[in-house]
Formats: sequence, C-alpha cells, structure tokens
Amino acid sequence: REGITLIPVVVHVVHNPASPAQNISDEQVRSQIDVLNRDYRRDNPDSAQTPPVFKDLVADARLRFALADKDPSGSPTDGITRTETTAQSFTDDDKVKSSSTGGADGWPSDAYLNLWVCRLGGGLLGYAQFPGGPSGTDGVVITYTGFGTGGAAAAPFDLGRTATHEIGHWLNLRHIWGDDDNACNGSDFVDDTPNQGGPNQGKPEFPHISCGNEPNGDMFMNYMDYSDDAAMFMFTEGQVRRMQAALDSARSSVGA
Ligand code: ARG
Ligand code: ZN
Ligand code: CA
Repeated sequence: REGITLIPVVVHVVHNPASPAQNISDEQVRSQIDVLNRDYRRDNPDSAQTPPVFKDLVADARLRFALADKDPSGSPTDGITRTETTAQSFTDDDKVKSSSTGGADGWPSDAYLNLWVCRLGGGLLGYAQFPGGPSGTDGVVITYTGFGTGGAAAAPFDLGRTATHEIGHWLNLRHIWGDDDNACNGSDFVDDTPNQGGPNQGKPEFPHISCGNEPNGDMFMNYMDYSDDAAMFMFTEGQVRRMQAALDSARSSVGA
C-alpha cells in the first residue's frame, strides 16, 4: 500500500490508587502519541545522528496514530480509559487486559490498537502481541514509567521508545538480533538489517561488531534493539516493508 495509514489508538490506564503516579496524565498519554507520530514518519530529530553508513536505509514507516474519537458503541471519547486495580504490579501474563483479572478489557482489535499502561514488575518495560494471536489480548502493554515523555516517565526510558519498539512487534517486526542468544544464525527476516549477536543496551558506541558484521557492526540505533531510548532512532526500508505487509494482511482491518 502507498501513502499514510491511520491507526486509531485507545490507551487503557490501569492504576492502583495507593500509587497515584500510576494514573498518568492525559498530557503524558498524548506525549506518547506525539512520539509515535514522529518515529513512524522519520520526523524524529535524532534521526540526524544515524551513522552515515546506515543513512540510506532509514525509512519513513508511513503510519499515523490518533487517539480514538469514537468508542466501540459509537459514542464520543478522548481515547483514554481509566481503571482502578488492586494489583501492585502486572507481568506479561495478560491479566491487565481483562476486567476479570484486575485490568481493563480491550476494545475490538479489528478497529483499535489497544495500549495498556500499568505498573509492570521485574524491570519489564513492555510487551506486545504479534499479528495472528487471540483478539481478546491483542495490543501492547507498557509500564507507566516508560510511557511517553514527562510526567511519570523516567530516564533512560523516558522518550517514548518502548511503545515505538512494541508497536514494531505488533506489526510483525522481530528483534534485530534474531533472538538467537549470540548464535549468529537467527534472523529478524529483514534483509537490510545486519546479522547481530545479541541485544545492545545503554548507549553503545559505533561501531559495535558482532557475528563478523564489521566494518559497520550492529545497527544498535534501530528501534528493534534494546538500547536506551536516546540511542535508538530508526527503522529500515526492509522493516517498513515487513510492517506494511502486516497492514496488508493480518492488520488490514485496523488501518484506514
Ligand atoms: N520488551 C523490552 C523490555 O521490556 C522493551 C525494550 C524497549 N527499549 C527501550 N529503549 N525503550 O525490555
Ligand atoms: Zn521486543
Ligand atoms: Ca537482518
């Protein structure tokens, strides 16, 4: 497909009243949408830091995100739901996605991208469901300190890149190192990302060599690595083709 695809988003804020910071502000929610609209249009200013050897690969993902203005019954909404929970924190077991388990039910996944914001335990920043999974749990979960900018967002994950990364998974992108634990034989099924050993963390220095990928090394500044928010700022042409293919197939109903 050509042109820009619009994705309607609903953000479910699931918070424990004993910890008021979990009830993030509308402003923090909107800041995340703004980040997505820069990162998925190659409008992020830090794109300029891309090493020259990778510059030709940087791509505009051609997606626009907007908080939903109609709820599933057709009534006006600001695209944000707020739900109190007694849970101290959540894990990747999907409990946050259902009112019967202390969370909030998702909106129909054929029409909305569901984003749940809650406190995730164990240092988990976020997790996503790939295309083709059960509709009741479809979407992305992000910890409240890693969502958007400002408010409760905390460095070094305070530039909204966890959602950029997780929505990449939601659109069928794999981790750039191929999830093979340094075996160098795993793939992200994208041709223009270098073969890479394992995840990078923090703010790596260019070049970082692994799996014989010299001289340019790992593309650690890719959103699908694990670098700090300030150190990740690009998708490649091949990744955009893979995301757009998902929008033409499993995700075709959600994008207008
Ligand atoms: N699922 C990954 C985690 O929780 C997300 C990593 C996102 N990276 C980032 N710089 N925001 O570890
Ligand atoms: Zn990931
Ligand atoms: Ca690759």
